[in-house]
Amino acid sequence: MGTLLSGHIAVVTGAASGIGRAIARGYADEGARVVAADVNAQGAAQTAAMIDEAGGNARAMTLDVTDRANCAAVAAEVARDIGPISILVNNAGIVRRNPISAPDADADWDAIIAVNTNGPYNVTRAFLEPLKATKGRIVNIGSIQSHIHTMNAAAYTVSKHGVLGFTRAMAAELGPDGIRVNAIGPGLIRTPLNAQNRANTDMEARFMLTTPLGRPGEVEDIAGPAIFLASDLSAYVTGVLIAVDGGFLTR
Ligand SMILES: NC(=O)c1ccc[n+]([C@@H]2O[C@H](COP(=O)([O-])OP(=O)(O)OC[C@H]3O[C@@H](n4cnc5c(N)ncnc54)[C@H](O)[C@@H]3O)[C@@H](O)[C@H]2O)c1
Repeated sequence: MGTLLSGHIAVVTGAASGIGRAIARGYADEGARVVAADVNAQGAAQTAAMIDEAGGNARAMTLDVTDRANCAAVAAEVARDIGPISILVNNAGIVRRNPISAPDADADWDAIIAVNTNGPYNVTRAFLEPLKATKGRIVNIGSIQSHIHTMNAAAYTVSKHGVLGFTRAMAAELGPDGIRVNAIGPGLIRTPLNAQNRANTDMEARFMLTTPLGRPGEVEDIAGPAIFLASDLSAYVTGVLIAVDGGFLTR
């Protein structure tokens, strides 16, 4: 057990799976009390149980980041039952790949923007007061697609460019309150999000052609940078996106 996040209360959205679960576990290992929040209640409960079994302190909560009333209700519950949060990780996200001419394009666009772009806004608004009171830290999970596009992913590309814009805007606006706001831009990380695509296409092989470190990322590769951005180690860092992509963006 480390102590980099001792005394902190952290909310991690999308913590039922993949990157969010790894960040929640990493934060707990560094001494934070963690709220594992996800629309998938069962998965969030599993994450909290994993943390408790490892000697950490976690609570699962059901949260739909697209639902503003639900975000406000969860924030009130956290304040009442746990305390003022000092770390918020806006990680919940979805991806669907379709050309703009696809019959489902409208539905995909609306769903992706609702979760990936509106979600961080909704959850940040809901937790603003405790974050101001604690001079907290916000870590938004963007993507390499905060800077570039991949084919047939216009909605996802726009949603993640939006995460970078939101990160910069909030860093500027909330800096005077002592809140730091940064982002992480994962490259190809092996999670359920892309399992189908990895299984059915040569996506992974194509990514590796332009990934200097020559391997896909694992969820644990994201936890370290997320701990750094939430801890005092990054006390003078705000408004940036750290690419955690094996060097993909060097291409
Ligand atoms: N895996 C990658 O290669 C990769 C690369 C770049 C960015 N990302 C980003 O990392 C984040 C996590 O992705 P992951 O790969 O761990 O995916 P994942 O599918 O394993 O986990 C995403 C989690 O978000 C939750 N979620 C979805 N909609 C939600 C909602 N409305 N409210 C609350 N929770 C919701 C899901 O239930 C799930 O637990 C996402 O923002 C994703 O865009 C992932």
